[in-house]
Amino acid sequence: MTVNKTILALIGTSRKKSAYNILKMFESELEKYNFTMEYAFLHKIEFCRGCELCLIHGIGKCPNFADVEEIINKMSKADVLFFATPVYCDFISGIMKNFIDRMVYFMHRPWLFDKHSFLLATTKYSGGKETLDYLDNVARRWVCFPIGRLIVRMSLHERDPEPIAKEIKKLSKEIHTKVLKNQKPKLGLYDLSYFRIMRVMITFAKKELPLDYEHWKEKGWLESDFYCDANIPLSKNLLAKFIESRVQKALNKL
Ligand SMILES: Cc1cc2nc3c(=O)[nH]c(=O)nc-3n(C[C@H](O)[C@H](O)[C@H](O)COP(=O)(O)O)c2cc1C
Repeated sequence: MTVNKTILALIGTSRKKSAYNILKMFESELEKYNFTMEYAFLHKIEFCRGCELCLIHGIGKCPNFADVEEIINKMSKADVLFFATPVYCDFISGIMKNFIDRMVYFMHRPWLFDKHSFLLATTKYSGGKETLDYLDNVARRWVCFPIGRLIVRMSLHERDPEPIAKEIKKLSKEIHTKVLKNQKPKLGLYDLSYFRIMRVMITFAKKELPLDYEHWKEKGWLESDFYCDANIPLSKNLLAKFIESRVQKALNKL
């Protein structure tokens, strides 16, 4: 069975080199399953000014909104978001980090529930795991759950491209299957407790950030177990409830 699906590659480098070439390899495999890959280079985006207007009044009030508007529109239409970054000093590139900073409102008012993510890091050799663990964390906070990841050590790949070519073939098939199945995300304690800690914080800061509070109220998140329909393990949910009550108690004492 084939699907017509769109992937948006969010690229944390200005170079059409390693990360881009690996994305191109994914594109040619995923085309076989009727996926279309679009590319968004993130290096032209201005630095986050730290004004928090996106949180206080909405993303449209960001003084640099114009440089992210098109990317956000493309994200809303995509089925899969590929985060693709080179490893810089054992972490994501500054370009990718700036993009995540610019999208900070996703962490307060997430909306990418109907999408999946895939995480890609290219490196000479080191830092791939740390980099992708951080991106995994971000994707979960955006409620855009990862369906796979790949670290490409270019020093090895340039000597022998065959293993990565095989891996990309296998991963592309898996991406196709997972997107078709579109299973509800299976949540861990981190996801469940983070949701609840956010609720406590958003309620605590309702005067400073009324938009967040109103949004949470309107979505029913002030009473629910999570942002969206998901597989919620009972025991982990109970533990998350307990964590929420402890955080609430600590805040009440302030
Ligand atoms: C500023 C900078 C920092 C880097 N830090 C690391 C590193 O910590 N570990 C590593 O193995 N490679 C490191 N590299 C190499 C890049 O991760 C690697 O060349 C990557 O594939 C480049 O991706 P690109 O060609 O898509 O820009 C670094 C490169 C630069 C420019």
